Amino acid sequence: MQLYYASRDGQSRRIAERIAGRLAETGLDATPRDLAAGLPTAAELAAQPLVLLVAAVRYGHHLAAGEQFLSLYATLPSAPPLVFLSVNLTARKPGKDTATGNAYLRKSIARHNLKPVLARAIAGRLDYPLYGWRDRQIIRFIMLLTGGPTDPKAQVDYTPWAAVDDLGTEIAGLVGRGKTRETAR
Ligand SMILES: Cc1cc2nc3c(=O)[nH]c(=O)nc-3n(C[C@H](O)[C@H](O)[C@H](O)COP(=O)(O)O)c2cc1C
Repeated sequence: MQLYYASRDGQSRRIAERIAGRLAETGLDATPRDLAAGLPTAAELAAQPLVLLVAAVRYGHHLAAGEQFLSLYATLPSAPPLVFLSVNLTARKPGKDTATGNAYLRKSIARHNLKPVLARAIAGRLDYPLYGWRDRQIIRFIMLLTGGPTDPKAQVDYTPWAAVDDLGTEIAGLVGRGKTRETAR
């Protein structure tokens, strides 16, 4: 199976690496591939038993490389099953980590007419010192509205790493059962 990620500040990459680590423990080799380095070909995607996308959200949308990946995936006549993990800060709120409860995930699934075997939103990282002035001010304002930290020095890792590990185990089970293909879209 192949694991792809679209990350700007590194958290989606870290999540992809963590899942790859869990897969490796079960004997599955899935080195994460950065979509910023280029999209796979349709043939590469189609040949996989299962594909996994970890994509970060920025200003209301998944990063362009993530969306392009989904567009490509959606063109495959016989697509392998898809696991779609969306990384954003909205997911830190209760009920906002599911395919129905998380608007970014829900909209991308609808836009590309996807039927992922597993879709989850994962809370990302807030790191004000890393952001430029404009982004920092905008995110602080959003945090003010949504009850998050506004201290410009705040660095908060909201990612539930134990839950990410559990997802890794769940994904390994999807591959390991060897029946990924019949649940394809
Ligand atoms: C400029 C910027 C815009 C963001 N926009 C959103 C957003 O619209 N909704 C949201 O829930 N999180 C938003 N986030 C939070 C990111 O999704 C979060 O920081 C995530 O961990 C980033 O993933 P990455 O490190 O892989 O790029 C934004 C973060 C930044 C820096």
